[in-house]
Amino acid sequence: MKVSAILSTLMATALVAAVHAAPSKSPTAAADDALQRLVVNYNYTTAAEIAAEYADSLYKRGHSNAVKAAAPVVSKEILPYCVGLSSDRPVRVKLFQNQQTCDGNGFRTLWVFTAHSKKDKHHGAYPVCIASATKPDRSMLFNAQTKCTGNGWKTDFVFYMSGQYSPDPAVSNGHESTMRWVADNDSRMLMYPEYDGASHGWTSPFRVGYRSRWRLAGDREMGILRAELPKHATINNQVSVVPPPNAATQWCAQNLIQVYNWGALIPTPNTLPGTVGPNYANDAARDECAHLVPKSFIRMGRVNVDGFIPVEILIDNKVHAAISLKANTNINAAYVRLALQESLRTGAPLPVVVDPLQGDLIVTLISGTIAVIGGTMAYQHPI
Ligand SMILES: *[C@@H]1O[C@H](CO)[C@@H](O)[C@H](O)[C@H]1NC(C)=O
Ligand SMILES: *[C@@H]1O[C@H](CO)[C@@H](O)[C@H](O)[C@H]1NC(C)=O
Repeated sequence: MKVSAILSTLMATALVAAVHAAPSKSPTAAADDALQRLVVNYNYTTAAEIAAEYADSLYKRGHSNAVKAAAPVVSKEILPYCVGLSSDRPVRVKLFQNQQTCDGNGFRTLWVFTAHSKKDKHHGAYPVCIASATKPDRSMLFNAQTKCTGNGWKTDFVFYMSGQYSPDPAVSNGHESTMRWVADNDSRMLMYPEYDGASHGWTSPFRVGYRSRWRLAGDREMGILRAELPKHATINNQVSVVPPPNAATQWCAQNLIQVYNWGALIPTPNTLPGTVGPNYANDAARDECAHLVPKSFIRMGRVNVDGFIPVEILIDNKVHAAISLKANTNINAAYVRLALQESLRTGAPLPVVVDPLQGDLIVTLISGTIAVIGGTMAYQHPI
């Protein structure tokens, strides 16, 4: 081979390498396909059966109990937002307000977050405008505005980010957050917990703060909830969750949930004052509910059914959020807080089951939807 031919071969190789090394401007088809695999196959039939079994044992069996079969009062201020992933390319998301699932019309439920639908001066002060567009159907997020019609977008709805917004997620007022990513000159977006968009060709990350998050449960996860549900029903028909009577109680209840910070619980009854949380009194002063601090308690193990116990968020002798769990079981306190948050929002106690296979997630039942709350494992390898 002539020297010039060798050189040109080397140069061609170098050029190809450079092209591959350059950051891609847009997510690849492979990255789009990988996202599709994160969608959980949620069996609506099985979920409905399990929810009906639970409701039956909760309300019919509980007839002789003190707790009446009152319909739960679901919050109108904090709503679920379903993030739907498009089934076709290019992959993009559409947000659906006040929906716990969003399968249909070319979208599948990717995950769900809850957020303030109305401005809350202490816990949800920062508006985010969600716009929609067609061809293809999709959503876009615009920060710090309440109207976002223009440039082909139309205002769909507005929600309010939680907490004192800070780029540091540790400075959180008990809120969760997820990066919003965009691609193709802001024409499509993606939001998925723990997703590293930058390494898949997405750009312009923006941290969106919200209250809680979860995803739908798969078959195996539904099975482990179903097996334990009768015990939870026996506990939860002795727990009466009532909505906070006013904004001050709502703010303090929210803060009291953040005080919960224990792993495995012993079954012995134990009632702790909210002030065991180092920030509780300060947060209450900020949130105009200092008068409720001496009346705030977290009550654990008030009743015990074969080692299953409730955790109750108690202000002025009323329970505003509660969960049931198996005592002496390792459980991540962060997930218990999110389950309590969902109990506060939906006005019902939540059964909480730890996945014995992937210890780092819990399975629960939120207003009839079987949900998984967890960390990276729960979102990167749903099974
Ligand atoms: C849902 O589960 C039932 C069994 O409980 C099964 O018969 C059915 O085929 C499943 N549906 C889907 C869509 O997988
Ligand atoms: C992105 O869109 C804007 C507005 O539509 C346009 O002015 C700009 O040239 C576009 N940039 C690229 C790189 O396509």
